[in-house]
Amino acid sequence: MLRILSGIQPTGTLHLGNYFGMMRPSIALQDEGDAYYFIADYHALTSVHDPDLLRANVRGVALDFIACGLDPRRCCFFRQSDIPAHVELAWLLSTVTPMGLLERAHSYKDKVARGLDASHGLFAYPVLMAADILLYDSALVPVGKDQKQHLEMTRDIAQKFNDRYGNTFRIPEPRIGEETAVVPGLDGQKMSKSYHNTIEIFAEEKVLKKKVMGLVTDSTPVEAPKPVENSTILALYRLVASAADVQQMEQEFMNGGVGYGDFKKRLFGAIWEYFAPQRTRRAELERNPDEIDRILADGAARARQVADVVIERAREAVGLR
Ligand code: TYM
Repeated sequence: MLRILSGIQPTGTLHLGNYFGMMRPSIALQDEGDAYYFIADYHALTSVHDPDLLRANVRGVALDFIACGLDPRRCCFFRQSDIPAHVELAWLLSTVTPMGLLERAHSYKDKVARGLDASHGLFAYPVLMAADILLYDSALVPVGKDQKQHLEMTRDIAQKFNDRYGNTFRIPEPRIGEETAVVPGLDGQKMSKSYHNTIEIFAEEKVLKKKVMGLVTDSTPVEAPKPVENSTILALYRLVASAADVQQMEQEFMNGGVGYGDFKKRLFGAIWEYFAPQRTRRAELERNPDEIDRILADGAARARQVADVVIERAREAVGLR
């Protein structure tokens, strides 16, 4: 059975980049194999330093993900810190991980450049991520393009471990969607909380509208034809509108005569409509707060069954048994 795994950090409210880059593909893969999805709360400690906020974010991510279609009966959904073997395996892996490999990580350099504390945890982040993946003998890891280097590092670390201690870990493959590898944010850069350019999946109507209307465009006048290529409006519209509606908008871009304000209104309407069923489901789930705890406890029990076997195999390989 194909083992699928992915994780998401509880660092804030989930946005369209998370949804189209990772959540939707992960939800689609639920029936393609044996899927494990988790909330990476150990990882979030590298940037979230308020315990109450962390707890609230974990619940928020669980709620959002389930509302979007993650079905805890068809996959195993759990919280990373419920399985401390992630951290133990990270230590074992750290002893085979070359410093040079971590020093080349873009993500670490970017985060420090943006002002995050240059802690050891942030530096060792990719090793913990490798542990997350290898602990479940994962074959396939659906992620956005920003995680590609982390997946390459995971493969390198697994190979190093296997070379030193004999074949212990399965080498995983990333799965990166072509259309959704990098979802652009309001300013055209990759959508990311740290760039302050996000559109939240469950934003309130007014907030959503204001954000979409604030999307950055060039200054082509209303009458003139507008460039279709590299248009953020169109890139986002393609994710949420029907093929016919997209074609129509592309045509109107090329014809000229319609202003960006109109296109943005249409984009807002399409986003709002796309997530209507998810909003309904989220409201239902919110009425039943104990349900999330029950789902995560059940997920942890199932995840532990796999993790226990693999961590024991790793301990034995290095000589701790
Ligand atoms: P995180 O929490 O930053 O993001 C979760 C997922 O969302 C994707 N994503 C995007 N995809 C396309 N366009 C965007 N603008 C965009 N923004 C976010 C990310 O690529 C990611 O797939 N290190 C991981 C969490 C993690 C993990 C793991 C993932 C921890 N352990 C093991 C896979 C396997 C992260 O920070 O994702």
